[in-house]
Amino acid sequence: MKEIQGIKNSKEWQEIENKYFSRKSGELAKLLKDIKDVSEDLRPKLGAMANDVKEEISKALNKKKADLDLQTETNLEQDFIDVTLEIEKYKLGHLHPMTQVQSELEDIFKSMGFMILDGPELESDYYNFEALNIPSWHPARDAQDTFYIDPSTGSGKDKLVLRTHTSPVQIRAMQRYGAPLRCVVPGRVFRNEATDASHDHTFYQLEGLMVDKEISIANLVAVMKEMLSAIFKKEVKVRLRPGYFPFVEPGFELDFGCLICGGKGCSVCKQTGWIEFVGSGLVHPNVLKSGGIDPAKWSGFAFGLGLTRLVMMKYGIDDIRLLQSGDLRFLNQF
Ligand code: PHE
Repeated sequence: MKEIQGIKNSKEWQEIENKYFSRKSGELAKLLKDIKDVSEDLRPKLGAMANDVKEEISKALNKKKADLDLQTETNLEQDFIDVTLEIEKYKLGHLHPMTQVQSELEDIFKSMGFMILDGPELESDYYNFEALNIPSWHPARDAQDTFYIDPSTGSGKDKLVLRTHTSPVQIRAMQRYGAPLRCVVPGRVFRNEATDASHDHTFYQLEGLMVDKEISIANLVAVMKEMLSAIFKKEVKVRLRPGYFPFVEPGFELDFGCLICGGKGCSVCKQTGWIEFVGSGLVHPNVLKSGGIDPAKWSGFAFGLGLTRLVMMKYGIDDIRLLQSGDLRFLNQF
């Protein structure tokens, strides 16, 4: 009885059960076996006693078993977890608005058969200017406020700059893939200029280049229109005016109507109602040559659009500095 009282779990219970009730080696089986050695007149008495003892132990064991089962149930009750309860939701991050629009543009251009390419942000003077028909004496260099890298820090051979535009990748792409060629190049560019609501030292462009047989301005305009209607999902006013870039001839500026103020004039459009958006034109023969492509056989168009401006327009952001602020009160809105 003491042993049974001391049982703490079903494993111990089973051990005790075996110890007394096992058919072969149990204590009770042994006891009953010994009864036949007792004198005949004592046998019935002893047999009855053995049965009583057996019953008593059996009863105690059953009761113990019931207690143990009850214990298990209460344990389960205490450990119960309600998996249907509302819990605080995981706060998942999301892509930066710049990244979202960049992926959208990549999809649009991929659907028109353009490759997506990449190039170095720390670029050689050669690729950033020289190969793009901008020699060192050219006044166009002054138009791009360049961060020049201290030559003593470079490998010595190439003068290095923080690329002022994504156009150097035009040359890299032509050298690598030759003609015909269709590619776009999203990426960061840098200008050493004063910061205000519409200017930052670091911003994003998306370069486009298509080289093929008999490419004309009509091809350029068609691709630009396709892109604008896909990205804004509505009609946007655009205007094309002559623009000068040494690496295209003829060259154009493509502007679109400011969507922040609806054309009335605001700080983003510098009170003009128009957003300077895309520089473009037909690839200059000297540039094709720099890329190793024969301008007598091939022609192409190129454009460079202000990805950052596009994002500001799409979401109605009136200060460019917010985009790189890392401020979650701003970013969580997208
Ligand atoms: N690279 C020019 C800029 O940054 C844009 C441009 C690209 C113009 C391609 C014409 C052709 O302003």
